[in-house]
Amino acid sequence: MHILHTISELRAHLASFKHPAFVPTMGNLHDGHLALVRQAKPLGDVVVVSIFVNRLQFLPHEDFDTYPRTWEADCEALEAAGCDMVFAPSEKELYPEPQGFTIQPPSEIANILEGHFRPGFFVGVCTVVMKLFACVGPRVALFGKKDYQQLMVIQRMVRQFALPIEVIGGTTLRAADGLALSSRNNYLKPADRLEAVQLSIALTAMAQALRGGNTDITSLEQEAMAGLGARGWQPDYLAVRRSVDLQVPVEAEIARLANSNGLVVLGAARIGSTRLIDNLDV
Ligand code: PAF
Repeated sequence: MHILHTISELRAHLASFKHPAFVPTMGNLHDGHLALVRQAKPLGDVVVVSIFVNRLQFLPHEDFDTYPRTWEADCEALEAAGCDMVFAPSEKELYPEPQGFTIQPPSEIANILEGHFRPGFFVGVCTVVMKLFACVGPRVALFGKKDYQQLMVIQRMVRQFALPIEVIGGTTLRAADGLALSSRNNYLKPADRLEAVQLSIALTAMAQALRGGNTDITSLEQEAMAGLGARGWQPDYLAVRRSVDLQVPVEAEIARLANSNGLVVLGAARIGSTRLIDNLDV
C-alpha cells in the first residue's frame, strides 16, 4: 500500500491507472469505512482512500481540534482491507492559500436538517470533495449512507457539474445493539454508549408507524423528539422526508411513499456531549 502526502506524488502513482475507485474519509476508521473499501475493490483498477480532517466543514465551536486522529491504526486497517493508496495531504498541501473558491450547494438541499444545524457544513464538504476528486480523478466514489444528506448533496453536485464519476452509497453498518457505526461513537461515555441505541430505536418506531399507515408526520416527529428528550437527549431533529429529495412529503403522498421505499426518517441528537446522526429507509 502506498502512502502519499502530496498531490504530485499521488498523480504520479495514479498515472498508469484508468479507473480509480475512491473512498474519502476523515480517518479514525471503523468497519463502516472498511466495508466501503472492500465494496470499492471490484469497482476500479486501484482503490484510493483519502484521510483528511477538513477544517472547512467544522463550525468554530465544533470538534475539529479534538477529532480523533488514529493514523497508524487506520493504515493497518486499510492495508488489511485491500486499499492500494492512501492519500493523506497536510492542510498546507490541500489548502496552500485561503480557499476563496468554494462550492455552494443549493439551499433547498443543503440548508435543511444537518445544514440547518451546522450552517456551512455542506459548503465545506462539497469544496473538499470537489478538490479531492480533482486530485484523485476517480471513476467511482463511495460514501456511507449513514450520512444520507451528504450522499445526496454529493450525488447532486456530481450530476450538476457533469463530473464523470459514479457516486455509490454504502450500507450503514451497526453495532450488535443497533447503533450506527460512527467515528464520533468513540466520544461516548459508557452510560451514554448504552443509551445511544435509542436514536435508532426512535427512528425504527417512526418507520414502523409510517409503514403501518400513520400519515401524521408532525405528531410522529414531535413524539419521537419528546421521547428522546425525556430520556435526557437534546434532539436537533427527527424528521420524515421524501427519500428522493429530502423535502417534506405532502399529506396525500405519504401512504403511497411509505409503501414504495419513498420515505426516509432521519435524526440528529446529542447524548451527553456527543452528537449522533442516523437514518432509516421506509
Ligand atoms: O464523511 C466524511 O468523512 C467527510 O464529510 C468527507 C466526505 C470525507 C469530506 O471531508
